[in-house]
Amino acid sequence: MSQTKAIYASFRSIGAYVPEKILNNADLEKMVDTTDEWIVKRTGISERRIAADDEYTSDMGAKAAKLAIERAEINTDEIDLVLCATVTPDYFNMPSTACVISDKLGIRNVQAFDISAACSGFVYVLSIAKAFIESGMKKNVLIIGAEKFSSIVDYTDRGTCILFGDGAGAAVISATQNKEEAFIDIHASADGAYADFLVTPAPGCINPVSQKVLDEGLNFVQMKGNETFKLAVKTLTKDVKEILAKNEINSDDIPHFIPHQANYRIIKAVGDALKMKEEQVVLTVHKYGNTSAASIPMAINEIWESGRLQTGELMLLDTFGGGLTWASALLPFAGKANNA
Ligand code: UT7
Repeated sequence: MSQTKAIYASFRSIGAYVPEKILNNADLEKMVDTTDEWIVKRTGISERRIAADDEYTSDMGAKAAKLAIERAEINTDEIDLVLCATVTPDYFNMPSTACVISDKLGIRNVQAFDISAACSGFVYVLSIAKAFIESGMKKNVLIIGAEKFSSIVDYTDRGTCILFGDGAGAAVISATQNKEEAFIDIHASADGAYADFLVTPAPGCINPVSQKVLDEGLNFVQMKGNETFKLAVKTLTKDVKEILAKNEINSDDIPHFIPHQANYRIIKAVGDALKMKEEQVVLTVHKYGNTSAASIPMAINEIWESGRLQTGELMLLDTFGGGLTWASALLPFAGKANNA
């Protein structure tokens, strides 16, 4: 009697896109009551990218996805599921940005949908891709994290406008029977009791579009910055310690710790608590700010393009965002390295 071999999910490729326009701290000094010194000291951010007026989340997502598909060395028609994580979709409710991106890539007759988990979105779609592949339902899943976050930022609010930027990242997750290539573990969680820490009050059925929404700026992101900061450090540290302990892996054995890029001080506090050395921690926050669901794939792309990410090397992903949501993942990079 023949035995069926187990199917695992593997991380095949990465791609990213950032818009051309740079918004630096000197520009922000002219817009709100802030200084370059304050922003760098409190966040580590020097600049962020801002999409053009006619450049949308789906445009950035499609560009990142095209690269990821090419680098996975598969054809577009081999993709059998498209997932997009975003809180700044092209359209508020429909069509989904995943559908718009599929159309831009010429992917037809394939299941496509968005998920909303704010900055944790990319690790959430990673967990969904894993479930679809390991259940045998799909073989090649295109996952995207893309945000035009500038579309929900109030550029008169110094507490938020200094933090966020635009961009996109994408990956191809494929079925494999080689256990060495398989994802090791993913934790994804949420606690809606903290929903008011990070919220865009409108538009939604509570606050449909109205003059009041516009007058009060309810369409912009609101954040309890300091409370979010403290909870992020605590939750991320606990989550990473748990995933490492559960899988009997030491923090020394992680060549690439890729945390959500929200604030350098959060990354440093979590890295220190986990006894990570500087060279283990991937940093992009200084040049891109917080790009929400795009942050982690943009950071993976950074180490891939610079030749730092080699085939088989372990990545530890760790993220935290509105919802509140958080997630971590342990997985090897199963694609070709960029050693050209
Ligand atoms: O990605 C999803 C998760 N999001 C996050 O992880 C964001 C987490 N939060 C943060 O990154 C930080 O809380 C901020 C960068 C937003 C703020 O830094 P903070 O060290 O927590 O400052 P704070 O909110 O406690 O404010 C300290 C002071 C206040 O002034 P007073 O009341 O002490 O006089 C603020 O009004 O800093 C003031 N302040 C600023 N000053 C200059 C707040 N924003 C600015 C600013 N420039 N941009």
